[in-house]
Amino acid sequence: MEKTITVTIDGKEVLASPGQTILECAREIGIFIPTLCHLQNTTNVGACRVCVVEVENARSLVASCCMPVSPGMVIRTNTPAVRAAQKMIVELLWSSGDHNCLVCEQNGQCELQNLVYWLKIDKPRFPIHPPGYPVDESNTMISRDMNKCILCGRCVRACNEIQVNEVLDFAKRSSDAKVGPAFDADYIDSVCVFCGECAQVCPTGAITLKPAKFAGRPWELTKTRTTCAYCGVGCQMDLYTKDNKVVKVMGNREYGTPNQGSLCVKGRFAMDFLTHPDRLTKPLIRYTKNEDLKEATWEEAFTFIADKLSTIKKENGSDSIAGLSSARCTNEENYLFQKFMRAVIGTNNVDHCARL
Ligand code: FES
Repeated sequence: MEKTITVTIDGKEVLASPGQTILECAREIGIFIPTLCHLQNTTNVGACRVCVVEVENARSLVASCCMPVSPGMVIRTNTPAVRAAQKMIVELLWSSGDHNCLVCEQNGQCELQNLVYWLKIDKPRFPIHPPGYPVDESNTMISRDMNKCILCGRCVRACNEIQVNEVLDFAKRSSDAKVGPAFDADYIDSVCVFCGECAQVCPTGAITLKPAKFAGRPWELTKTRTTCAYCGVGCQMDLYTKDNKVVKVMGNREYGTPNQGSLCVKGRFAMDFLTHPDRLTKPLIRYTKNEDLKEATWEEAFTFIADKLSTIKKENGSDSIAGLSSARCTNEENYLFQKFMRAVIGTNNVDHCARL
């Protein structure tokens, strides 16, 4: 949208589009405003208030993630009043949960921990009252410890607005508010499909990916971007590895990726096959009907397949052969496969596992 509005942020004049929030505008010119509840591509709810800024002539500090810019607005992001409010908010969040970084899987990548450090808070100001919720360890994929939840609602919006699974919501209200599936069920008894989006967006250690637990600290992991091989969408993912093993998988949120950062249960969790000892790494051929499979070279395997297909085609005709392709191949591989069946074998008997 055309930039028709002029505002001033920390003394800099900025051109903004109608409807743009103060946060978006500040980020565009490289000004950092901390956020916790803000989650791109979901509704701005203004739940945490750590993104507060001063706006000249406004009655109070405003949440920059929700406030659209208006012509002539003068905004200050780093005044003593702003920092005092942010500190107070973070201190209250700290006191309301069990944020024990020593035993937290998110240690080193927790956004609350980062904010405590950034705001130079050296000790908790208020007595700490963790709610004492039981931890949901009902399944093998996602761990849910609501004692570490800051009620930012990012998981709720990711579940409802991004994945549209509609599993998570807020139960109860006020200081009893708690995020979870309907009737506060464990994940395994809910309609959760285990896409893991809630764990990906959680800023603290409240919802974490179980396979990653004790498998490697964030700073020990190597990040490698790759394309998911489970279907033809081409989801972009970041594999976090340690000692040549995948510890966890996160959707890549860079602009323009087909999945825009989201993954399904297979892309997120089904990685055991990569290093499984039963994984086939060499071709196996059964030369005659009742014989055992024998290891072969790729050259032997291709020659065997070509000979067999030629013989069948010669003796019984092209339409006695059918080819079944796979969703786990790329679009290009599937294209080549149908071309091979039609142009080389000479049959239209070609289908795909997605229609089985
Ligand atoms: S990030 Fe703006 S209110 Fe939470």
